[in-house]
Amino acid sequence: MMKKYKRYLITAALPYANGPVHIGHLAGVYVPADIFVRYLRLKGEDVLFICGSDEHGVPITIKARQEKVSPQDIVDKYHNLIKESFREFGISFDIYSRTTSKIHYQTASDFFKTLYEKGEFIEKTTSQYFDEEVNQFLADRYIVGTCPHCGNDSAYGDQCEKCGTSLSATDLINPRSMLSGSKPVLKNTLHWFLPLDKHEKELRKWILEEHKNWKPNVYGQCKSWLDAGLQPRAVSRDLDWGIPVPLEGAKGKVLYVWFDAPIGYISATKEFTPEWEKYWKQNDTRLIHFIGKDNIVFHCIIFPVMLKTHGGYILPDNVPANEFLNLEGDKISTSRNWAVWLHEYLDDFKGKQDVLRYVLCATMPETKDNDFTWKDFQARNNNELVAILGNFVNRSLVLTHKYFNGKVPEIGNLNDFDNQTLNEIVNLKQNLEENLENFRFRDALKAGMDLARLGNKYLADTEPWKIIKTDPERVKTILHISLQITANLAIILEPFLPFTTTKLSEYLNLGKLKWRDAGNIQLLKPGAEIKEPGLLFEKIEDDVVEKQLQKLQSVKNIAVQNIQVKPQKNAISYDDFAKMDIRTGTILEASKVPKTDKLMQLKIKTGIDERTVVSGIAGYFKPEDLMGKQVCLLANLEPRVIKGIKSHGMILLAEDSDGRLVFVTPEQKVSDGSEVK
Ligand code: 2FM
Ligand code: ZN
Repeated sequence: MMKKYKRYLITAALPYANGPVHIGHLAGVYVPADIFVRYLRLKGEDVLFICGSDEHGVPITIKARQEKVSPQDIVDKYHNLIKESFREFGISFDIYSRTTSKIHYQTASDFFKTLYEKGEFIEKTTSQYFDEEVNQFLADRYIVGTCPHCGNDSAYGDQCEKCGTSLSATDLINPRSMLSGSKPVLKNTLHWFLPLDKHEKELRKWILEEHKNWKPNVYGQCKSWLDAGLQPRAVSRDLDWGIPVPLEGAKGKVLYVWFDAPIGYISATKEFTPEWEKYWKQNDTRLIHFIGKDNIVFHCIIFPVMLKTHGGYILPDNVPANEFLNLEGDKISTSRNWAVWLHEYLDDFKGKQDVLRYVLCATMPETKDNDFTWKDFQARNNNELVAILGNFVNRSLVLTHKYFNGKVPEIGNLNDFDNQTLNEIVNLKQNLEENLENFRFRDALKAGMDLARLGNKYLADTEPWKIIKTDPERVKTILHISLQITANLAIILEPFLPFTTTKLSEYLNLGKLKWRDAGNIQLLKPGAEIKEPGLLFEKIEDDVVEKQLQKLQSVKNIAVQNIQVKPQKNAISYDDFAKMDIRTGTILEASKVPKTDKLMQLKIKTGIDERTVVSGIAGYFKPEDLMGKQVCLLANLEPRVIKGIKSHGMILLAEDSDGRLVFVTPEQKVSDGSEVK
């Protein structure tokens, strides 16, 4: 039996205030969360929808340094931009707060103090790199040096992106600070760690046994974290931007951004209502976190441990994380400016919020990464919103004006087709509901649009325009039914297309309807007045999407101009080259190496043998996309043990200055074991 909840607390991941929001954020988090919340509100549920800007963390300090302004200037700028664009796009938060607010500082400090006083932290002194020129400890990402495994001279302090090995900053040969370029020195520093390992057993039970209903991508990611074994996590950092660690003698130390950010959900609720405790502390609240896949571990493992050890708080009932949305076949990237920015869309497509909401919902990356293209955007607008929904609504309303002076006609005798059509309204409503309740937004939207399809088909089959002269009574019934379908559309499409359904309700003089009114076929009374309708959607012409594609092309062109090609290495003799035995081979099997982000274990048929090779490509490719691929392999590279797996050779890849990796493959398939020379 489903637990009966009295209220809902819905959170959407707090976006970092170091850049504007793009379509990837929207499709992954804010559009699904908003649809869900609007649905709950229509059902008359008690629901709070919480969000705000995530304003701490190293990337914000770096951005401030680059732009020669203060971190506060950066977060002020983006917080306001993000907040305003969400509002204009119809994301209906009850509050959009920020983590630099006073109430958040207080809440996060108190939270830390409680855990500290309960003895939930481990204190550890570790030795960390310090940049003496800028007088600052260095986050691992801001140290570069030579990888001890593969010799790559621009490996980061946490990982070598070339060979995929995870590193500690102290593993790097010749470390340099990315802030000043100077050689960092090691210094001791004290930090507080949350011993996640202590809570592993409880987490296994809570997630793996009690939440089998979580989406497979979420459940699977939690399972692999838990199977790999949890480690204590530092919850403080040496940084001059953040919430100070509220302890004596902790000068210069702040809370780790991932410690304070989720507490932001609580602070924002506090800011919104004095009744916040009801939402956070009573078991009959259903807490749901909407997030992207890169946030899973924080919301499913770390934050629940924080809440639990603090005590008194409820835990999330579900965390329906989405995968990523790509743009025109490429990963969306804030730093490469490869994105469709919400504020720019709102400028370029005035009044067309629902078109983007529709397309992002229809292509939402629910179970796997998905691609947004402008051609698809255009096609969905023209072939679905205009040709199906807009067309049906327009015909129903215009014909009512033409034949019956804009008054809802009486319903007469119903034939089988009429009855079938009317019954289908209830079926589609139920189908939509079931999909929404299970976070299947694409299918839910499809059920909604199927109602418009039903209406379109009904009009096309009954052809009222052909019989108006001969059988006006029949036309009354047909338009009556069409108008009832239109009224139902105004309700069930509201979560997805709120701007459109507001207009539609106005045309029909519907007033405020509730979810329970959907399925009713007497929403409009005979004789009721219908307003003269405007067009709900208009066709998007080729030149409009061409302009957007050109905008993206210019981003690519600038990127090409900025490519930094590495200087040529020292000359080698032909003999040196001839020592390398490079062969073609075919990938037979591929699987991610557990406990790593980047490593993939491959079985390769080389013509000589079948062998295991470990390659740092898991961040770029999925195992299923590699099977059967022919690649080039440096076959006689000395075998090396990587993460306990012996690797016999190295796959050849090309890497551009953005760090994008592609295979070097034979232009045509050749037999495995062919020599490359
Ligand atoms: O990944 C992100 O964009 C983070 N700023 C999300 C934070 S969610 C929450 F915990 F605050
Ligand atoms: Zn390396």
